[in-house]
Amino acid sequence: VRIGILFGGPSAEHEVSCASALGVARALADAGHQVFAIGVTRTGGFRLVPDATLAELRAAVGTGLAIEDRLTVTGPVVELRTGDRAGTLAVTAADAPGTVAAELDVVFPVLHGPYGEDGVLQGLLESLGVPYVGCGILASAIGMDKVAMKRALRAEGVPVTPQVSFDAQTYRTVDDPEKLVLGLRRPLFVKPARMGSSIGISRVAEGDDLAAAIEEALKHDNVIVVEQGVTGRELEAGVLGGWRPEASAVGEVQVKGGWFDYQQKYFGDSDPMIVPASLPEEVTERIRELSVRAFAAIGGWGLARVDFLYDEVNGDLYVNELNTMPGFTAHSMYPKVWAASGVSYQDLVSRLVELAFV
Ligand code: DAL
Ligand code: MG
Repeated sequence: VRIGILFGGPSAEHEVSCASALGVARALADAGHQVFAIGVTRTGGFRLVPDATLAELRAAVGTGLAIEDRLTVTGPVVELRTGDRAGTLAVTAADAPGTVAAELDVVFPVLHGPYGEDGVLQGLLESLGVPYVGCGILASAIGMDKVAMKRALRAEGVPVTPQVSFDAQTYRTVDDPEKLVLGLRRPLFVKPARMGSSIGISRVAEGDDLAAAIEEALKHDNVIVVEQGVTGRELEAGVLGGWRPEASAVGEVQVKGGWFDYQQKYFGDSDPMIVPASLPEEVTERIRELSVRAFAAIGGWGLARVDFLYDEVNGDLYVNELNTMPGFTAHSMYPKVWAASGVSYQDLVSRLVELAFV
């Protein structure tokens, strides 16, 4: 199959996407597919990574942590068009219209954050009529938006962390930001409503400046969510499938110094992931069941990683995040939890490509 891997993109998770894309490109090429890597620039243009560059990158074996080992958005500027055959995508040279540089049967969008993971790119691919891996427009949009996501999950009886949300306009008109978070106990987590990789997130403990945290989050979005912090363990499960999705083994992120921020996620000096997490069987089963329900609640297709907070003292589990294009490097949690369930990285990407054609 001729597969186009889209990666990069305008979001603040550009680099994470470049790292994820290298892993996916390597695995699909190793599985015998014809792989084309199409980089999306930070301003939304498309570039076709030259074959030679791809081959070099595939040969390079990464030793460092995920993000050091990645594709880069280079190559000639290209345009995406509907292919000559129904259901295909033509990649044409921008400087020579009509010259088809590649024709693709399916697209694997390996982008994180706004534009790539929130339904925007999925809409473009829908309009071009080409099959693509992962969630469709609606599930992507709901998964990305922490307000919509929690509403959808709550409506299906999936427990979520207590939170409030407000927009920039509302924030600017209150005299005291504390009035916006009445009823929530500190520590609080202040987040942009639609972001990933912990970008723009602050933890606000007793005595910390709430307004400063909100200003920081407003740099990334004009809608803000403030969650009540749950003291407990961070557990994650993968979901894979279409009509009958399944959940993977459960992994744990052992956080140093408060919470799993961008620095620890990608530049930490030790691997914080424990797979499988050491948990009573019934907790593991509950997480797996809730993961599938959360996926169904947003109308998911293909894949997602569902992140939980587990308050061991009270026995409470909450879904905290839902990522419809989770980090996908060889070091990332999503492939690790599937490996623990007996699905190799290569089987995982092959299965995802199959699901794009269902
Ligand atoms: N948003 C990052 C890529 C993740 O959830 O893994
Ligand atoms: Mg996340």
